[in-house]
Amino acid sequence: MSTLDRTPPLQTKFPTIGTTIFTVMSALAAEKGAVNLGQGFPDFDCDPKLLDAVTDAMRKGLNQYPPMTGVPALREAVAAKIEALYGRKYDAATEITITAGATQAIITAVLAIVKPGDEVIVLEPCYDSYVPNIELAGGVVVRVPLTPGTFRPDFAKIGAAISPRTRAIIVNSPHNPSATVWTRAEMLRLQDLLAPTDIFVISDEVYEHMVFDGQLHQSAARFPGLAARSLIVSSFGKTYHVTGWKIGYVAAPAALTAEFRKVHQFNVFTVNTPMQFGLASYMASPEPYLQLSAFYQRKRDLFREGIARTRLKLLPSEGTYFQCVDISGVSDLKEADFCKWLTNEFGVAAIPMSALYVDGDDQGIVRFCFAKKDETLRSALDRLAKL
Ligand SMILES: Cc1ncc(COP(=O)(O)O)c(C=O)c1O
Repeated sequence: MSTLDRTPPLQTKFPTIGTTIFTVMSALAAEKGAVNLGQGFPDFDCDPKLLDAVTDAMRKGLNQYPPMTGVPALREAVAAKIEALYGRKYDAATEITITAGATQAIITAVLAIVKPGDEVIVLEPCYDSYVPNIELAGGVVVRVPLTPGTFRPDFAKIGAAISPRTRAIIVNSPHNPSATVWTRAEMLRLQDLLAPTDIFVISDEVYEHMVFDGQLHQSAARFPGLAARSLIVSSFGKTYHVTGWKIGYVAAPAALTAEFRKVHQFNVFTVNTPMQFGLASYMASPEPYLQLSAFYQRKRDLFREGIARTRLKLLPSEGTYFQCVDISGVSDLKEADFCKWLTNEFGVAAIPMSALYVDGDDQGIVRFCFAKKDETLRSALDRLAKL
């Protein structure tokens, strides 16, 4: 090899990050022709009206850069929705920003508020981007476990983790992967705990419209003491069955939004225009998001009825499109090994909960995604019935 085409050595920023279990499990599922209940995305299409709205926007020539903060009509639709559902009025011009999905929203929020050496509390298990995001910002990750078994927040532990260097806490309800939904009492506890501090909240509410059994989503927007310190993140991808569109938003008080936008304008600048116009006109009707909980509750019940006939033990699923199960009655394999075995031998892919802990804590629990056609769920249940 000539020295001219030598790639200089690069010191990795992430020595421990390799191929994630999500990629491993999806590849294995494809190889084995397994029903993939691992990754969290629907296998059915969105409402054709939404496709028409986006296509209309493209045909009208709405294909150039939109405003950096997002198309005004979409920001206004988001502000109106939040006010109608959670009773807090966000100013569409200064407090709502359209993002390239929740993932970009979260990293942008972290980069905007976390300085090197700042501590950020995460509640494990948690979505896998939080920890690397904090590390990229030079922050120190402070991991607090949700209560093993129930996955409820443990406020004594959260309180003990707070220090003078705590800059932020990331919370997520409805929660991926445990499918728990924070109660009003829990949100009030968080509000009280943070009241004497200057800690910011990044509230990941991407599953806000998937809450079951008559429970209400307790958005941080409902609680003045939380809303004043929160960047609230949501995802149109989850709400409208279009995860591949990568579009979401952040709602935050004007002073926080101003800082958020300073980072946003130099990491993504703008988010694709026709999707924004399409979503803005589609949001004129609240029905799709108002009906989403009932839509997924029916799928959850179908899936749970089938699982109840196996030796897998159901954990509660209060929200999201996930169902966790305890595998101890079936196998004493480690979660990750169990998932591989299940894919190989029974043709159903799942995700080990340990993948969502930095230390890979193993509790004998795996996560299935039920955002699938009924026939997909039935086919998975037929296979699992043989367990
Ligand atoms: C808890 C949580 N936050 C954020 C995201 C990312 O959402 P988006 O696809 O809009 O980036 C996901 C997607 O799985 C998630 O489960």
